[in-house]
Amino acid sequence: MQQLIDQINKYRQEIQSEPVSNAAELEQFRIKYLGSKGLVKTIMGEMKHIAPENRKDAGQLLNDFKLFVETHFEELKLTAGGPGLSQSGPAYDTGLPGLPLPLGGRHPISIVRNRMISIFQRLGFSVAEGPEIEDDWHNFTALNLPEDHPARDMQDTFYISKNPDWLLRTHSSSVQIREMEKRELPLRIICPGRVYRNETISARAHCFFHQVEGLYIAEDVSFADLKQTLYFFVKEMFGNDVNVRFRPSYFPFTEPSAEMDISCLICGGNGCSVCKRTGWVEILGCGMVHPQVLENCGIDSNRYTGFAFGMGIERITMLKYQVKDLRLFSENDLRFLKQFNQEV
Ligand code: DAH
Repeated sequence: MQQLIDQINKYRQEIQSEPVSNAAELEQFRIKYLGSKGLVKTIMGEMKHIAPENRKDAGQLLNDFKLFVETHFEELKLTAGGPGLSQSGPAYDTGLPGLPLPLGGRHPISIVRNRMISIFQRLGFSVAEGPEIEDDWHNFTALNLPEDHPARDMQDTFYISKNPDWLLRTHSSSVQIREMEKRELPLRIICPGRVYRNETISARAHCFFHQVEGLYIAEDVSFADLKQTLYFFVKEMFGNDVNVRFRPSYFPFTEPSAEMDISCLICGGNGCSVCKRTGWVEILGCGMVHPQVLENCGIDSNRYTGFAFGMGIERITMLKYQVKDLRLFSENDLRFLKQFNQEV
């Protein structure tokens, strides 16, 4: 076996110092080493003389050697035909167009996020971002979810053992607080980003997903402004045929609160398994920002009012493209992802 290793190493050196500087020499190289009677073929043929217990190692050694020769040949092809080296014409046709490189495409979540951003930007919203590792104040307490509040149970998350006050944010609403604390009013922002929940992974739930949060704080902002903003969003996102309805709901950080449904795009509102036979699909939560939340951020709630909303990008993407399983978004399966390429 050692003998074979030494022999292969010798060949490697010999091959590396083989002078190849034009097309003719390149062809000679190919015949000598890679041709049907070339060195690689010959020594591969020697395998049968190798003791059975050494065959596995020898096979590996010879395969590596073959790869080495082939790679070296490919390199020579480039240099032997390169400008200045050639004596009897290049080894390849320099007039040919280059090989096409496959272009990447945007992830469907990015496509929909960008679309959402551009719709809200047209209404004067600007983009704000916040950290994914949050503290208790911004994720819960300032949003009117004090420590013992039962609504916290619905958003269990991952805590950071180094500091019990830190957690992976459960929603993008934490960015509202950060922005209200630091920015001048009026404030009109949307906050796209990744959020986390401690959930068992299934077709409808994952331990991370994406949300877009919206916030508008000024003097005299009303529920009518909220409805009109969201109507505009839905029509731009899904087209004019989609119907919208608001249902009263509860969130600790808004009062009054609502959930917004759109008519099911799969069955056109007739009832199917996606809309659980109701004809409607919930797409977001919203409401008028609770005065206590404004006060928590140092904003005078007698002077200012505002609305907020939050929605999952996955949910919107699933409805828009009729994707039935949430896990597809994070599996990186090119067969799935390539279907969205044309919308880069
Ligand atoms: N943060 C909520 C959630 O993740 C969604 C939400 C509801 C955001 C109402 C809001 C809102 O801004 O007003 O479930």
